[in-house]
Amino acid sequence: MHSNTWLLLLGLALAACDGSNDDATLAVMDADVPDAEPPAVRMPELDFPSGVLADENPEDGVVEVHLTAGRASIDLGDGVMREMYAYNGHVPGPALHAKAGDRVVVHFRNELAEPTTVHWHGLRIPASMDGSPRIQDPVEPGEEFTYEFVVPDAGTFWYHPHVRANEQVEKGLYGPIVVRDRNDPEYDVERVMMLDDILLGEDAMTFPPFLASHPELMHGRYGNVLLTNARESDRVLAYGDAYTIERWRIVNTANARTMELSIHGARFRVIGTDGGLLAEPYETERLLVPVGQRYDLEVTFDAVGIVQLLSHVATLDENDEVVEVATPVYDIDVVAADRELRAIEWPTLPTREPREPSREVMLDLEAVTGGEHGIMWTINGMSHPEEPIFTFDPGETVRIRIVNKNGPEHPFHLHGQFFEIVDQGNAWTSQPGLKDTVLVPGLETVEIIAYLDNPGRWMAHCHILEHAELGMMAEILVGEDETPAPPDVHGHH
Ligand code: C2O
Ligand code: CU
Ligand code: CU
Repeated sequence: MHSNTWLLLLGLALAACDGSNDDATLAVMDADVPDAEPPAVRMPELDFPSGVLADENPEDGVVEVHLTAGRASIDLGDGVMREMYAYNGHVPGPALHAKAGDRVVVHFRNELAEPTTVHWHGLRIPASMDGSPRIQDPVEPGEEFTYEFVVPDAGTFWYHPHVRANEQVEKGLYGPIVVRDRNDPEYDVERVMMLDDILLGEDAMTFPPFLASHPELMHGRYGNVLLTNARESDRVLAYGDAYTIERWRIVNTANARTMELSIHGARFRVIGTDGGLLAEPYETERLLVPVGQRYDLEVTFDAVGIVQLLSHVATLDENDEVVEVATPVYDIDVVAADRELRAIEWPTLPTREPREPSREVMLDLEAVTGGEHGIMWTINGMSHPEEPIFTFDPGETVRIRIVNKNGPEHPFHLHGQFFEIVDQGNAWTSQPGLKDTVLVPGLETVEIIAYLDNPGRWMAHCHILEHAELGMMAEILVGEDETPAPPDVHGHH
């Protein structure tokens, strides 16, 4: 090895260790030069009730896990055991925890009585591994499939099925993905919060019928119970220490409900979005989280007491007036601790060159009457179009104008790529950072700048799972189409 490489490795080790961990530096210096590795990325424990998928492969740089979808009896916190769908017996599924650059191997097994796939929402992986039922034949009951890919980006992502997703996700199939790299600041505690709302019928044991009501067809399926990590959250859920700084990784896994959040009892700032850490964290009072999106928050406990994550929901009072109700969805009892508040030094993130769009396209989102349910949702006039609606060159930067022609909102999601939202000065566009999902409110137009760097055929759809199921699901093609002819499904029946 040349001596300048040697210096570079040493420099990296020193920079990342920050003097606090001499072992890693020593390891680099002592190692046989050809095998010298950059310092290890920290993998702190995640505070997440479903735990982490066990890595069965001792090799560094490979995460190999088993994941099984099946039925399970789940207690949502009210003591009632409900028949739900679960990954490895848990709702949410256990977290997939990896480092950027790791090769991930997931031995997936379907023990449900219906076909399914696993989609890795937000990961820029090859299209053949993306869980799209238009590319991958769905995994039939009793069958297995091995997903294998390299995770390129650090951040908070999630996994869920892409076959009859409106039913399978509602019934409990979703889990978080946490990918780390050397830029991650060190926090005292890291929590994962998968927010959901679920529609429970009077018969607590069954799910009310799907796609059976006009509001559900129009707005998507709204639940009547708010869940955090599949627990009804009306109790103290967790404990914390005063004068600590935590990282909260928040995912909205609901079928349709945009979450409007605030934190009571602690200071917080936004440090990450769908595409990872922000170069410049920012403070806000309210956080709007449409379904599909993720937010990473830095929460500072500078006092003793109850800290609450509040979900603000509009509802009707007894006079049929719309009122806002704040429901605590995560409570932390912060107790006195003998420690001092330290400062988190924000890392200098690699700068991204500004990229000018070379092209502009439009996506018109609209409802039309027709189809099996009497209403269909369309993209550019098409419902579940068979062929990709646009073809782009790999590496192209594209301005996409997304026009919502009706009242219901559309959290629009693009697979396999990141984009930025053009800021128009309102809550749903003043969302800096890389995204894979953007909220387009009723009768509004939102513009995004998409960085189409990942070649392949990619789904582009509304993440209100009922809208997607009822037609608002298309594909774009980046580069040449190397996928076999689509099987006979569209992600629905
Ligand atoms: Cu969350 Cu098509 O995905
Ligand atoms: Cu996705
Ligand atoms: Cu929609």
